[in-house]
Amino acid sequence: MSSQARILMCPPDHYGIEYEINPWMNRSLGAVRALAFRQWQQLHDTLVSLGVKVETMVPQPGLPDLVFTANAGLIFHNTFLSSRFRHEVRAKESPHFDAWFAEHGFTVTHLPETSFHEGAGDALFCGDTLFAGYRTRSDASAHQWVGKTFEVRVLPLELVNPRFYHLDTCFCPIAPGEAIYFPDAFDTYGKRVLHTHVPKLIPVAEEEAFRFGCNAVVVGKTVVHNSQCPRLAEDLTRAGYRAIEVELDEFLKAGGSAKCLTLRLDGEEAAGWKYGE
Ligand code: ARG
Repeated sequence: MSSQARILMCPPDHYGIEYEINPWMNRSLGAVRALAFRQWQQLHDTLVSLGVKVETMVPQPGLPDLVFTANAGLIFHNTFLSSRFRHEVRAKESPHFDAWFAEHGFTVTHLPETSFHEGAGDALFCGDTLFAGYRTRSDASAHQWVGKTFEVRVLPLELVNPRFYHLDTCFCPIAPGEAIYFPDAFDTYGKRVLHTHVPKLIPVAEEEAFRFGCNAVVVGKTVVHNSQCPRLAEDLTRAGYRAIEVELDEFLKAGGSAKCLTLRLDGEEAAGWKYGE
């Protein structure tokens, strides 16, 4: 790492399953907050031990999904492009994210009101290309707007499996030209786009994709992901990475895991703009 990685997280003081906006969420099952807290803390401490500067924001009552900071918006250099959430229950998070970013020296911008975009959950740089998931949460038109505004190449990928409703649940860039992915979350066209533009693709097996193995945090040559993904860990090791497992099952109940709980503030690990300019 040339400079210290910076990541935003939000403690799970008010985390819970209070509504159902994706197929993972089931209000009657709920989440155990004390356990969620321990798991979140372990992720936090693991990242700190890897040399990451973890910044935290103040949790807010009534916003159980605020812990999923990946959805706050998209970071590009010093600009924070605030998300336009598909669901009203999450749109209420935006003023809190906007305030945090404004207070921390970012230029806060917004997308046109006509389309939805769920930030780094659906838009991930691999090299200098922005891979963009659309259909369930983000609109393809919003991704095109981002491409024009930031002057970056955007490759839209349709997400065809409702369980993998954000791109970061089924695709994780680990370095420019390298990524892990779950093939069945994409249609034939999407798979072809990925194969054409990402020379080294590591497929994740179905049972591990359902453990959200793809929802990983990359810090240099280390990849932090949910527990019980042994094949992924082995494949990563073979590819020259260190895999660290942190059990995050309480968050799987809301449809999230390691990556969703973090937002890289200095650019994604595999962002070309981070290295290039
Ligand atoms: N319950 C949240 C939602 O449905 C989970 C968000 C997970 N975040 C992510 N980047 N995949 O919006």
